Amino acid sequence: MQSLVQSKNRRAHRGSLLAIEPMSAIDIKSLLQLARKMNPLKPSARLRGKRVLLLFYEPSTRTRTSFEIAAQALGASTTLVLSSGSSVEKGESLLDTAYTLRAVGSDAIVVRHPHSGAPQLMADHLDIPVINAGDGMHEHPTQALLDAYTILEHKKKIAGLEVTVVGDIYHSRVARSAIHLLSKLGAQITLCGPPELLPEVSATLAENLRITRSCEEALRGADVVMVLRMQRERLAGLKISLPDYIARYQMTLGRLRLAKPDVLLMHPGPIIRGLELTWEVADCAQSVIVEEVKNGVPVRMAVLAQALGTVN
Ligand code: CP
Repeated sequence: MQSLVQSKNRRAHRGSLLAIEPMSAIDIKSLLQLARKMNPLKPSARLRGKRVLLLFYEPSTRTRTSFEIAAQALGASTTLVLSSGSSVEKGESLLDTAYTLRAVGSDAIVVRHPHSGAPQLMADHLDIPVINAGDGMHEHPTQALLDAYTILEHKKKIAGLEVTVVGDIYHSRVARSAIHLLSKLGAQITLCGPPELLPEVSATLAENLRITRSCEEALRGADVVMVLRMQRERLAGLKISLPDYIARYQMTLGRLRLAKPDVLLMHPGPIIRGLELTWEVADCAQSVIVEEVKNGVPVRMAVLAQALGTVN
């Protein structure tokens, strides 16, 4: 099976998007510039004849649909494979699944997986681009890109912005990608959460970063507030009291008022109203949560166009 995919030559990674951490600020800015040129409402034939395979081992609504819509807006065909109902359930390994999907003619694979490093492993063994749609607690690079795109639609630049991230940072691949991206582009980042969800070592993730346990302190003067979902599926074994969490960290209108009046309230979704944020905050004038979802389409169009080598 391996001979089908030239695993030995490992000229892999060309076009792959595996993480924000190894990217330069220039690479990030150029991808964001490309995204600004994408128009999801204007069909294009840029990827005509290409087959994009969407391989999801974990649930997803936003990432999955926006990659699918992005690929189709560029003229590519898409095939969705969920681990549930596929031969993964019969015990097929990740690599054998990847080889199979390459053998049927995929030109790129978008993968979400519960284990950190799964997209990297696939990219190491395939001769087609692999795009990370979220791997374990590691990274969610396209989420960070669409968040940066959204911030730039409202603020002139990211350099110098005070960005506060509140919540379950320890389990969050969204937070890790956002921290790398925003730090590379010069934002000042404050992380806020209880010790179980924000270990002290998080302070070493990037430059321009501080951590605090006080939500009020973290929010004062913020330009951007990013609230994270409590990842209840990853909390087993941790002694987290949800009522205590809500009392100390839930984003309320009162807390949000500590930030700048033109603060952007962000959340990668899915949001759990009444837990990490109130209903009022989710729908408040400063909330750009729906815009983040919408911006996922042009950003993922840019990622696919770059991956499949159709960028001029
Ligand atoms: N933000 C995000 O990754 O959402 P989904 O899990 O719905 O794709």
